[in-house]
Amino acid sequence: MYSPATTRYAAPGFYRRCGRSGLKLPLISLGMWHNFGAKDSYDNARAIALRAFDLGITCFDLANNYGPPDGAAEETFGNILRHDLRRWRDEMIITTKAGYYMWPGPYGEWGSRKYLLASLDQSLKRMGLEYVDIFYSHRLDPETPLEETLGAVAHAVKSGKALYAGISNYPAAETARAAKILRELGTPCLIHQARYSMLDRWVEPQLLATLEAEGIGATVFSPLAKGVLTDRYFKGIPADSRAGHDQRFLRPADITDAVLAKTKKLNELASSRHQTLAQMALAWVLRHPVVTSALIGASKVSQVDDCAGAVKNLNFTREELALIEKILAD
Ligand SMILES: NC(=O)c1ccc[n+]([C@@H]2O[C@H](COP(=O)([O-])OP(=O)(O)OC[C@H]3O[C@@H](n4cnc5c(N)ncnc54)[C@H](OP(=O)(O)O)[C@@H]3O)[C@@H](O)[C@H]2O)c1
Repeated sequence: MYSPATTRYAAPGFYRRCGRSGLKLPLISLGMWHNFGAKDSYDNARAIALRAFDLGITCFDLANNYGPPDGAAEETFGNILRHDLRRWRDEMIITTKAGYYMWPGPYGEWGSRKYLLASLDQSLKRMGLEYVDIFYSHRLDPETPLEETLGAVAHAVKSGKALYAGISNYPAAETARAAKILRELGTPCLIHQARYSMLDRWVEPQLLATLEAEGIGATVFSPLAKGVLTDRYFKGIPADSRAGHDQRFLRPADITDAVLAKTKKLNELASSRHQTLAQMALAWVLRHPVVTSALIGASKVSQVDDCAGAVKNLNFTREELALIEKILAD
C-alpha cells in the first residue's frame, strides 16, 4: 500500500509560477514517452512514478501516442493512479496531448476538432480520469485553421475535461497567434511544451521571448538530449539505454566522438560545480525564468533522484556560462 513521503514538499523553491497564471509547476516534471509502454516493466514504471511524487514532482506528462503501442503509457499510468495515487489526484498535474497519428482514416491525427476531442475522450478513458489538468495541441497543423484546433482545446477546457490549454512544438509566430486566439476564447494559453537542451537551442532566437511577452510558461522536453547530456554513453552504448534498445528516436550513430568530446568536457565542469552532468544540464535550461519546468524521462528510479537533485545548485557564474558556450561551440 503506497503512502507518499511526508517530506515531498520540503525542497525549498521547487515550484515556479507558469507564465502569468495561478498555477505553479515543479522545476522537474516527469514524462512517460518511454519506459511506460506495454512491454516495459510495470513495477519499474510504478516505482519511477511514485518516487517522483515522493520528491515533489507533481507534474506527469503524457500524450495519446506514448507507448508503444499508442495509448499504452496512459493505460500504465491509469493503473498506477487507480492502485496507488488516486487519493492524491488533487496534488497532481496530469497532462495529455493530441496531434500525432493515433488511428487510421482522416480523423486520426493532426488538428481537426473531430480528432482532438475524440482523442481526449479516449485518453481520459485510458487513464480513468474525469479531466486532465493540461490538454495540449501536440503539433501545429498547417492545413487546419488555427481557430479550429485551438477552439477544440478551448472547448475541452470549457467542458471541464481539461483545466488549462497548452500548445507544443509551435513556432514563435504561430505561438503568438495561438495566444491571441485562446485569450479571445477566454481560455488563455497556459504553457508551451518545446524541445530545449544545450544541444538543441531552436527556442532561443524567438520563441522564449514570445512566451515571455505573452505570459506563457515553457516546459522544456528532452533537456538531457534523450540521455546524451548525461554520463550514460561515456563507456559505450549500454544495452539497457535508449540508444541501446530503442533506436526509433536515438540512434547509436547520433552519439558521435565529437558529441562525446563535448559532453565529457561539460561533465568536468559539472563536477567542479559538485553536480552530475544531468543535473547541470537541467539547471542550465532552468536558468531562463520563462522556463517553468524541465520535463525529463527516466528508465530508473536512481535517475529521478539524480535529476531532482539538480535544484540544489541552479546558479551559474558568468565564467561558467561562458565556458559552456565555448565547449558547445568548439
Ligand atoms: N511535446 C513533444 O513533442 C515531446 C517530444 C518528446 C518528449 N516529450 C516529453 O518530454 C519527456 C522527456 O523526454 P526525454 O525522455 O527525451 O527527456 P530526457 O530527460 O532528455 O531523456 C531521458 C533519458 O535520459 C536518461 N536519463 C535521465 N536521467 C538521467 C540521469 N540522471 N543520469 C543518466 N541518464 C539519465 C534516460 O535514458 P535511458 O533510457 O537510456 O536510461 C532517460 O530515459 C517525455 O517523456 C515526454 O513526456 C514531449
